[in-house]
Amino acid sequence: MRPGEAGLRLAREGEAEGAENLKEMSNTPAPRTRQLNDAPTSLEGTSQASRDSVAQERLLAEKHLQERSRVAAGPQGAVVAQVTAVSKRFLGTLALNDVSLKLGAGEMFGLVGPNGAGKTTLLRILATLIPPDSGEVLVCGYGLNEIKKIRGVIGFMPDVLGVYDDMLVREYLDFFARASSLPATTRDYAVRETMQAVGIEHLAEQPVDGLSRGMKQRLCLGRSILHKPKLLLLDEPASGLDPLARLELREILRALQRQGTTIVISSHVLEDLADMCDRIGVVSRGQLICVDETKNLIEEQGTRRLRVKALGPGEELFQFLKSYPEIDGVRWDNDHILFRLGGQHHEDLHELLKVLIQKGFPIVSFYEEAPSLESAYMNVTRAGEGWEVAKS
Ligand SMILES: Nc1ncnc2c1ncn2[C@@H]1O[C@H](COP(=O)(O)OP(=O)(O)OP(=O)(O)O)[C@@H](O)[C@H]1O
Ligand SMILES: [Mg+2]
Repeated sequence: MRPGEAGLRLAREGEAEGAENLKEMSNTPAPRTRQLNDAPTSLEGTSQASRDSVAQERLLAEKHLQERSRVAAGPQGAVVAQVTAVSKRFLGTLALNDVSLKLGAGEMFGLVGPNGAGKTTLLRILATLIPPDSGEVLVCGYGLNEIKKIRGVIGFMPDVLGVYDDMLVREYLDFFARASSLPATTRDYAVRETMQAVGIEHLAEQPVDGLSRGMKQRLCLGRSILHKPKLLLLDEPASGLDPLARLELREILRALQRQGTTIVISSHVLEDLADMCDRIGVVSRGQLICVDETKNLIEEQGTRRLRVKALGPGEELFQFLKSYPEIDGVRWDNDHILFRLGGQHHEDLHELLKVLIQKGFPIVSFYEEAPSLESAYMNVTRAGEGWEVAKS
C-alpha cells in the first residue's frame, strides 16, 4: 500500500465515543477459549433472532468455562475488536471462510498460518482496507459503517512497505501526524516521541530512501503508532530484520502492550510469537482452525522430540531409528537426528538409550526437546488440512 492511502489517514476524531463503546463492550463475557473445531459464534447483529442466538451462545460459553479446570484463554476484560462469521472471496479463492475472533484490551495476539492462508486478508479487513463479503467487524464498538472512526483507533503496518522516497524521516512522520489530524501543538512532540519509541531519533534528518530495510520497518511501525492507536495491526513486521533488530522489535511491542495497546501480529517467525504473544490463532485455508493461549497451544499440540547425535556419519543409527517400532518422524537436523518416541516416559527413554548403547552406536548426545510453537503449528496445520504426520 502506498503512503497517503485512505487506510493511513487515521483521524483522531471519535476517540471519546470509542471509549464509551469500549466500556459497553467490557460487559461482554469472555468467549470460549479454544476454537479448534468450534462452530463459529453468532453475529451480534440487529435482529432479535440474532440477539437471542448471541445470548444462547454466551450462556453456553459461560457453562463451558465453568466446566473447565484451567483458566480461560479468551480476552480478559474489555473486548477491543471482534470479527464474527467473516468471509471474503477473491474471484475463485475463498480467502476467509467464516472467521470469528475476539481481541481483548492490551493483549498481544499472534496470527500464524501457511502462505496464502488468509492472515493478511484478515488484517486488511480489520484495518478497513477491504470489506468482507459477509460477517461483522467491530473495533472499539464501531462497525464498518463508521470506517473513519475505526481508522481513528487503529494503526496498520502492511507487509509491503510503502515510503515516500523524497522525504526526511522527521518530515515523513510529520506528514503522517498531519494526516492523522494530530493538533499542531502536539505534533512535534508526537514525532519525537515516536522516533524515540522505535529507535530512529538519530535518523531524523536522514532521507527515507537511504534507510536500510530494518530502519524502514521501524519507520513504518512508527508511522502506525504516531496517533497512539488502541488496536495495532502488524503484518509480518519482523520480516527481513536481523536477530538484534527482531529482539528490539519485541521490546518495542512489549512496551506498547504495557501501555495498553492491543496488538495483532502476523508472522512466520514462530519463536518470536511464542515469546511475545498471549494467544495464538492458526489460520489454514481461510479458516481460523485453532485459537488458544500460547502456553496451552504448545503444551497440548506441541510434540516432544528427541535429539540424538553420534560420532561419524550416523547413517546406520538413522536407519536403526527408522526401524524402531515406537519411533516416527525421524529426520536429520544438520548432524543431529530428530524423532518422536511413542509414550516418552522416562522408562521408554532409558530403554531406548540402553538399546542404542548395547548396539554399539557411538552416541555423544541424547536429549529430549521441549515442545515448541513450531511443532504445535505443524501438528495443528497438518490436522487442519487432513494430513497425517507420516514417518519420514
Ligand atoms: N487482492 C487479491 N486478489 C486476488 N486474490 C487475493 C488477493 N488478496 C489475497 N488473495 C488470495 O487470498 C488468499 C489469502 O491471501 P493472504 O494474502 O491473506 O494470505 P496470507 O496468509 O497473508 O499469506 P502469506 O503468509 O503468504 O502472507 C491467497 O490465495 C491469495 O492469493
Ligand atoms: Mg500475508
